[in-house]
Amino acid sequence: MWISSVVSLAALAAFANGQLENAFSPPHYPSPWMRGGNGWQDAYAKAQAFVSQLTLLEKVNLTTGVGWEGEACVGNTGSIPRLNFRGLCMQDSPLGIRFADNVSAFPAGMNAAATWTTRLFKSRGNAMGSEHRDKGIDAQLGPAAGPLGRFAAGGRNWEGFSVDPVLTGVALAETVKGIQDAGVIATAKHFIGNEQEHNRDKSGDQNAYSSNIGDKTLHELYLWHVQHYKNISKYANVRAGVGSIMCSYNRINNSYASQNSYTLNYLLKNELDFQGFVMSDWWAQHSGVDSALAGLDMSMAGDQGLASGDTYWGSNLTAAVLNGTIPQWRLDDMVTRIMSAYYKVGRDTARVPINFNSWSLETYGYIHPQASEGYQQINEHVNVQADHKDLIREIGGASTVLLKNTNNALPLNKPKSVAIIGEDAHDNPAGPNACADRGCNVGTLAMGWGSGTANFPYLIAPVTALKAQAAGDHTTVTNVSNNYDFDAITKAVTGAEVAIVFGNADGGEDYITVDGNQGDRNNLTLWGNADAVIQHVASIHPNTIIVLHTIGAVIVEDYKNHPNVTAILWAGLPGQESGNAITDILYGHRNPSAKNVFTWGKKREDYGTDVIYDPGTLNPQQDYTEGVFIDYRHFDAQGIEPSYEFGFGLSYTNFSYSDLKIEKQAPGPYQPTTGQTSAAPTFGTIDYDPKNAEFPPGWHSVKLYVYPYIDGPVPTNQTQNLPKGATDSSPQPKLPAGGSGGGNRQLWDVMYTVSATVTNTGSVKGTEIPQLYLNLGGPDDPKVVLRGFDDLILDPQESETFTYEITRRDISNWDTASQNWVVSSYPKTVYVGSSSRNLPLTGPLN
Ligand SMILES: *[C@@H]1O[C@H](CO)[C@@H](O)[C@H](O)[C@H]1NC(C)=O
Ligand SMILES: *[C@@H]1O[C@H](CO)[C@@H](O)[C@H](O)[C@H]1NC(C)=O
Ligand SMILES: *[C@@H]1O[C@H](CO)[C@@H](O)[C@H](O)[C@H]1NC(C)=O
Ligand SMILES: *[C@@H]1O[C@H](CO)[C@@H](O)[C@H](O)[C@H]1NC(C)=O
Ligand SMILES: *[C@@H]1O[C@H](CO)[C@@H](O)[C@H](O)[C@H]1NC(C)=O
Ligand SMILES: *[C@@H]1O[C@H](CO)[C@@H](O)[C@H](O)[C@H]1NC(C)=O
Ligand SMILES: *[C@@H]1O[C@H](CO)[C@@H](O)[C@H](O)[C@H]1NC(C)=O
Ligand SMILES: *[C@@H]1O[C@H](CO)[C@@H](O)[C@H](O)[C@H]1NC(C)=O
Ligand SMILES: *[C@@H]1O[C@H](CO)[C@@H](O)[C@H](O)[C@H]1NC(C)=O
Ligand SMILES: *[C@@H]1O[C@H](CO)[C@@H](O)[C@H](O)[C@H]1NC(C)=O
Ligand SMILES: *[C@@H]1O[C@H](CO)[C@@H](O)[C@H](O)[C@H]1NC(C)=O
Repeated sequence: MWISSVVSLAALAAFANGQLENAFSPPHYPSPWMRGGNGWQDAYAKAQAFVSQLTLLEKVNLTTGVGWEGEACVGNTGSIPRLNFRGLCMQDSPLGIRFADNVSAFPAGMNAAATWTTRLFKSRGNAMGSEHRDKGIDAQLGPAAGPLGRFAAGGRNWEGFSVDPVLTGVALAETVKGIQDAGVIATAKHFIGNEQEHNRDKSGDQNAYSSNIGDKTLHELYLWHVQHYKNISKYANVRAGVGSIMCSYNRINNSYASQNSYTLNYLLKNELDFQGFVMSDWWAQHSGVDSALAGLDMSMAGDQGLASGDTYWGSNLTAAVLNGTIPQWRLDDMVTRIMSAYYKVGRDTARVPINFNSWSLETYGYIHPQASEGYQQINEHVNVQADHKDLIREIGGASTVLLKNTNNALPLNKPKSVAIIGEDAHDNPAGPNACADRGCNVGTLAMGWGSGTANFPYLIAPVTALKAQAAGDHTTVTNVSNNYDFDAITKAVTGAEVAIVFGNADGGEDYITVDGNQGDRNNLTLWGNADAVIQHVASIHPNTIIVLHTIGAVIVEDYKNHPNVTAILWAGLPGQESGNAITDILYGHRNPSAKNVFTWGKKREDYGTDVIYDPGTLNPQQDYTEGVFIDYRHFDAQGIEPSYEFGFGLSYTNFSYSDLKIEKQAPGPYQPTTGQTSAAPTFGTIDYDPKNAEFPPGWHSVKLYVYPYIDGPVPTNQTQNLPKGATDSSPQPKLPAGGSGGGNRQLWDVMYTVSATVTNTGSVKGTEIPQLYLNLGGPDDPKVVLRGFDDLILDPQESETFTYEITRRDISNWDTASQNWVVSSYPKTVYVGSSSRNLPLTGPLN
């Protein structure tokens, strides 16, 4: 590192004072080269053999997208015709296949998390992965886990899992494993600090916001789940490791995520020993040489801007290698990482031809849509849905949180009459896919909007499924979809035994604005008059049941304690089987077991952190001065009572907790990793004659397409201000906290084994989610942090043992001075219970 310690001390002081305008990211070079560790040995050997036979142009082809709408997928790299190797196909989204027909629309990541069930995380990942595989996709652009959820109003929180890094880490790891077991590369995203949509990206002179995150905060909160997906063997015990990670649009400490050498080289590839490849978000790349040296491995969509025709890489990367600015080893490392991911998940045997086209659902069309070239069959309409609807319905029910249930309002049992009220219970009259990328909020809400979407094959609205149930029960149904027609609503609920009111709150990605909401929500209330509908029905009906389809927390305090509101359910974004899933819960075909994946605040200000809608500057700064204190950590620390806490959720039965046992283990002392890496390897030889890198004679270029060929002389006289050490290929020191997948392997040593007994004390079968929290004892530590959980299926009066192995990492804090994890001397406490605020069992970790 060549920045003097004086500068870094100044920056640290500024950070302590909460002034981070000058926050900077320390340079870290060279970019760590892949070593084939952490279960990547076989894939690495195959990749090495493959890459060794490639020419310079062929290598560059695999690193760079061909440009927006150049080929069938949302992202496509160049190909290697000589070896009959087609380019890689990257396709959205984290909840299914975007831009295709005959695919499933899965519950959002947030709903998957709300099940707190590892089996379902993995089954969902595997089902999504198999759909991607059968459409010919090489890499699914998911799962998402960034944003983590620093802002309750954040537009894309629902694409990811939970504001808690442990729940997110487990869900992410299992989803990755499910996807990759199906033979498709998973792409975990977005790395890192992409917590709001407003100003996330560079636009002319307007810089993206800078997420200024302290080292301790980064390690203890925002990077925690990333570590998980490096060593998932603890939870999933076979192949570990996500194939790809997508870096985000924003800056971190004023350096763009796609060229931040500290986050990519130091944290991800060195400390966490990440062996896969780093892909840019679409046009999040802002430099050629700099991003290459800072650790980026793949440029997406390949063009500098949407269909701009020019590229930072492609021919520019070829030139930068030819003139010696980018060393061969760095290019080889990019390609080897990409091909290792390819072999690791078994693409060499799982690959089928790409049989869909993102840019048209017609059977015939252009294979190069941007250029309107190559008219041919582009869609085979392969139906990849299999029986995934059953899993989607199961997750829909298992992710529905029962927040309130009084007077045994639920489950319903053949009521004489039911009134179904609210637009959110009904179909969008124009169809569930009427708005591109789900960019409107009409009818029932089952996914947010933006690139994190899929086309619904169908969408079961609640009214449809409830009417089917009612028909079997001989129940009379009235229903009103118009949220402004209170006369009709009054008429419909009068005399009904039960009134079920549906409301929603939507959000998504910033390139679509819906009802004035540019991705991030403008408020935390319900949309389309639904709060008023709830108040109206509750004022006239004594058995009002509320169902909420929302992308995150909404303010429920106004009606939560209303005596006529007998039950409240949060159903999140359940996907295509929405109506069937909520009917299962309302009628007790499935006993609710879901738990909150975020805190429900009584008012917006209670969250302490909020979206900055208008930074009023071309250089927006977001200082993470709250440290690790977001969501429940913040509410706990400030003594703020929420409406419903993180981890909370009711059942139709009751559970009791007893018999906490804490057993100390003796794994031996923690050893910092020492030693050096090997020198950077190169694979094959590079022909440095620029003549051989030119367009082949008679070459036909597709319009706006990105190629690896050079067109004109290679610049050799430019002044280079390369960061110190950036091209150094000699052995490099390992980091004390690094050395293996996810960091120092001793971080996963088991320090304590904790167990407790959970008993079903009610009269129906149910699933309980026991949760284990820790207090690490220090003055800067949160009151409690989640560390483990399980799902136990219990018959009435049945007991089962919940066990969690507390690892060294679980009880460690990040020490900025030694750049390592340390176990402090403060007394530590373990808690077990049913939510972050209901922890009946407690004991010391001695
Ligand atoms: C950002 O700056 C803070 C304060 O100096 C530092 O602790 C942290 O490591 C930096 N993070 C990155 C990603 O550069
Ligand atoms: C992952 O963690 C397990 C312990 O759960 C350990 O045995 C294994 O060696 C670790 N794998 C890597 C690649 O570090
Ligand atoms: C690079 O990829 C493009 C697009 O697939 C292809 O047309 C071209 O032949 C490839 N070049 C080489 C040298 O393989
Ligand atoms: C596939 O999707 C098309 C719409 O593009 C639809 O017409 C067709 O019925 C679907 N086929 C199946 C088997 O679902
Ligand atoms: C190479 O990069 C420069 C600088 O961004 C750009 O002007 C040029 O168009 C790029 N070349 C190609 C072929 O895209
Ligand atoms: C009741 O639901 C049906 C769909 O089952 C719908 O067509 C109808 O418009 C709804 N009625 C009202 C008054 O909203
Ligand atoms: C909150 O935003 C939604 C969506 O734009 C809107 O329908 C609702 O009226 C807003 N709530 C308030 C209190 O303004
Ligand atoms: C509850 O509903 C009844 C009608 O059944 C109504 O008379 C009463 O005012 C409602 N209570 C409240 C607090 O609105
Ligand atoms: C659960 O326990 C509470 C308090 O003891 C009781 O009021 C309630 O009826 C029980 N619920 C069930 C479903 O057993
Ligand atoms: C080598 O080529 C690249 C790509 O055009 C350019 O950015 C770089 O400045 C060149 N290096 C030298 C020393 O001219
Ligand atoms: C580099 O060489 C080109 C072509 O000879 C010339 O136009 C340009 O001025 C030179 N640039 C520098 C920085 O010397």
